[in-house]
Amino acid sequence: MDKIAIRGGNRLSGRVRVGGAKNAALPLMCASLLTEGTLTLSNLPRLADITTLMRLLVQHGVEMNMDGDESCRAAGRQGLTIGMDATGVNNTTAPYDLVRKMRASVLVLGPLLARFGNARVSLPGGCAIGTRPVDLHLKGLQHLGAEIDLDQGYIVAKAPNGLQGGEVVFPFVSVGATENLMMAATLAKGTTRLVNAAREPEVTDLGECLIKMGAKISGLGTDTLEIEGVSGLHGAEHPVIPDRIETASLAMAAAVTRGEIDLIDARPDHLGSAIEAMEAAGINFSPIEGGLRVSCSELVGTDVMTEPYPGFPTDLQAQMMALLTTASGASMITESIFENRFMHVPELMRMGANINLHGRSAMVRGVERLTGAEVMATDLRASMSLVIAGLAAEGETLVNRVYHLDRGYERLEEKLSACGADITRIKEQS
Ligand code: EPZ
Repeated sequence: MDKIAIRGGNRLSGRVRVGGAKNAALPLMCASLLTEGTLTLSNLPRLADITTLMRLLVQHGVEMNMDGDESCRAAGRQGLTIGMDATGVNNTTAPYDLVRKMRASVLVLGPLLARFGNARVSLPGGCAIGTRPVDLHLKGLQHLGAEIDLDQGYIVAKAPNGLQGGEVVFPFVSVGATENLMMAATLAKGTTRLVNAAREPEVTDLGECLIKMGAKISGLGTDTLEIEGVSGLHGAEHPVIPDRIETASLAMAAAVTRGEIDLIDARPDHLGSAIEAMEAAGINFSPIEGGLRVSCSELVGTDVMTEPYPGFPTDLQAQMMALLTTASGASMITESIFENRFMHVPELMRMGANINLHGRSAMVRGVERLTGAEVMATDLRASMSLVIAGLAAEGETLVNRVYHLDRGYERLEEKLSACGADITRIKEQS
C-alpha cells in the first residue's frame, strides 16, 4: 500500500486548480440510468470512487464512451469527459461486492426503479464514520408507491405500474435520500414534493442536470423541491461543479503553513458558512479572476459545529480540526451529522495536538508546534486532516492507507508540491 511522506514547515505559495466535485459526480453518473439518451458529463475528477461507479454502471449494462475526452483534453479542459448510454441496461442488480466499496452506489436505486419498475441493490452497511442507514431512501420510495423488501442483505424494490408522485417529508436532512428521491420522482406519475430536502450545491447540480435532461423541477437550493413527473428523459451534456470540499481543504493546507495560494475554478458561493468559519480562524479570502486567493498570517481558535448546507460541512470537520491544532487559543468543534467522525483525533494527538473529546464535541487547545509521526486514518477526510497537520509539523509525517485519499483527492501530492510542499508518494511494492 502506498504512503505519503511529508516534511513539514514549507510555506505554500502558488496556483492550484480545483477539480470536479466527487459528491456531485457520483449522483450525476447514476442519473444516466434514467434515459436511453446519452448523458455526457465533463470535469469529472479522476478518482477511485468514479472508477468504482463506472464499474457498477457497466455491469448494469451502461455503455461508457470516452471519445469526447481526447478533444476536451486537446482544448485544454481538465477533468474527465464520459458519455454514458443506458439504452442496453439488462441487469437491475447492484451487487454487494461493488456497493460495499462505495456507499454512494445506493444512488442507482431510485433511477433503476423509476425507469425499469424494479431494482435489487445490496444494503451498503456501516462504515468508518458511522452506521449510516438508508431508511430515509427506502421510506421515501415507499411514499412514491414502491414495494420494498429486504432479502439476504439486498433491498428488493418493485413498482410494476411505475412510481406515483407524493409528498415526502424528511425527518432530518439527507443528501443521498434527497438525490435518490429527486431522480426517482422525475419519471413518477404526477407531482412529488420533497420537504426538508438537502440544499447542498451537489444536489442543485444534479437537479440542474436533470432539468437539462427534460425533468421538471422547481425549488432547487431551497428545502422544498417540487418535481412534476414526465414520461421520459433525454440525453444532455453537463459539466460537474468544482469541488467545494477540495477547495476548502487546499485553503486550509495553505493556511496551516501561513502561506498564500490561488485556487483556480474555486466557487466561494458554494462554501456556505465554511468561509466564515475559516475567516474567523484567520484565513483571508479575496476573489481573483477565475478563482479565489487564500492567505493567512496568523491562526486563531474558533468554535465550529457541523450542519447541513449552508452550515459548516461535516466533510471539512477533520481538516478544520487539524488547522486549529496550531491556532492561538482554544476551539470547540462539534460534529452533529455523523456519530463516529473523530477517528483522526488520536492520530492528531500522536503528532502533539492537545485535544479533549467530550461526546460529540472536541476541545482543541492550540499548541506551539506539531511533530511529525507515522499516522493512519480510516476515512478520506481524516486522511486529509493528517496531511494538513503534516504540512505544519516539525520533521517527517508518514500517512498510511493512502487509498482513502485517492478516493476523493485527485493528485493531491502533485498539487501541493507544485506550491512548494515537501510531499511525496512512496509506492509500496506488492
Ligand atoms: C453525503 O453522504 C456525502 N456523500 C458525504 O460525503 C457527506 O459526509 C454527507 O452527504 C453529509 O454531507 C456523497 O455525497 C456521495 P446523508 P450521504 O444522507 O448522502 C443519516 C465524503 O467524505 N441518514 O446526508 O450518505 C446518516 O447516517 C462523504 O465525501 C439516516 O439516518 O449522507 C447521517 O447521520 C462521506 N438515514 C445523516 O443522516 C438515511 O436514510 C446525513 O447523511 C440517510 C441518512
